[in-house]
Amino acid sequence: MSKPQIISNPADVQKAAREWKKEGLSIGLVPTMGYLHDGHRSLIHKAVEQNDRVIVSIFVNPIQFGPNEDLDNYPRDLEADTAVCESEGVDIIFHPEPKDMYGDHFLTHVEVDEITKVLCGRSRPVHFKGVTTVVNKLMNISKADRAYFGQKDAQQLAVVKKMVKDLNIDIEVVGCPIVREEDGLAKSSRNKYLSPEERKAAVVLSRSLNRAHALMDEGERNADKIRSTISDELSKEPLADPEYVSVVDSETLQDIKGDINDPVLVAIAVRIGSTRLIDNFSFEL
Ligand code: PAJ
Repeated sequence: MSKPQIISNPADVQKAAREWKKEGLSIGLVPTMGYLHDGHRSLIHKAVEQNDRVIVSIFVNPIQFGPNEDLDNYPRDLEADTAVCESEGVDIIFHPEPKDMYGDHFLTHVEVDEITKVLCGRSRPVHFKGVTTVVNKLMNISKADRAYFGQKDAQQLAVVKKMVKDLNIDIEVVGCPIVREEDGLAKSSRNKYLSPEERKAAVVLSRSLNRAHALMDEGERNADKIRSTISDELSKEPLADPEYVSVVDSETLQDIKGDINDPVLVAIAVRIGSTRLIDNFSFEL
């Protein structure tokens, strides 16, 4: 298998994409911030399966981080990431510097309203504006036919889908299932921040969601009961500090009051020590 080309200049990626399009080849885009794990790999794998050419972007996007977030500490390992991309058959790794993306007196942002104000948007007010702006740029640079996103970041997936629909962007957004560690913890580049003790405690996220899922499987439809079941389980773990425990409509992301009659997203954000982790499941009824 040939090594992926690593390109930092957006115009060079656009040029390669233009050539591929001329030849009638389909293009898959997998946007990432690098430090690739098996969750990312599953997206890349699907993209390689479904497209003639695949572009993986590796870019720690500064404009989606708030002032007190982990931008400077965000883990990076381009060599290991390149090996993952090579083993999956990726054609181009797009690895720009912030100046390549935002250098030239950047003035334009893309913002999705309403559904970015809830869940993670409450504590991360600039986050989704940064995500939609960079994802829009990545879609334009890659000229992709399909873009791959994980259900792990369920709100991000919903926000990107809404942007694509509202702005008539000609691309298919493909959602991919959450990949987990053996004990249930959702894979995340941020799991690296956890001490061994915190790593053990972090299993409480998936454990609490599993309890809620089991209740729903048994027929429970009261949203408050689902929320309290999760909160009770989280409260048993002294290292866990919940930020939100939410049962929301899958599309509008607004809180469900009373009974659940439509597909829902059950989503939580929990601090384990100073690390903020998220997890979720969707329930179709
Ligand atoms: P990052 O956190 O690197 O994630 C890149 C993609 O991998 C996202 O679509 C995310 O949902 C998916 N992913 C992460 N962990 C996963 C897991 N355990 N199972 C399945 N998929 C998983 O999300 C971002 O980067 C950025 O916000 C980005 C979209 C690249 C914009 O900067």
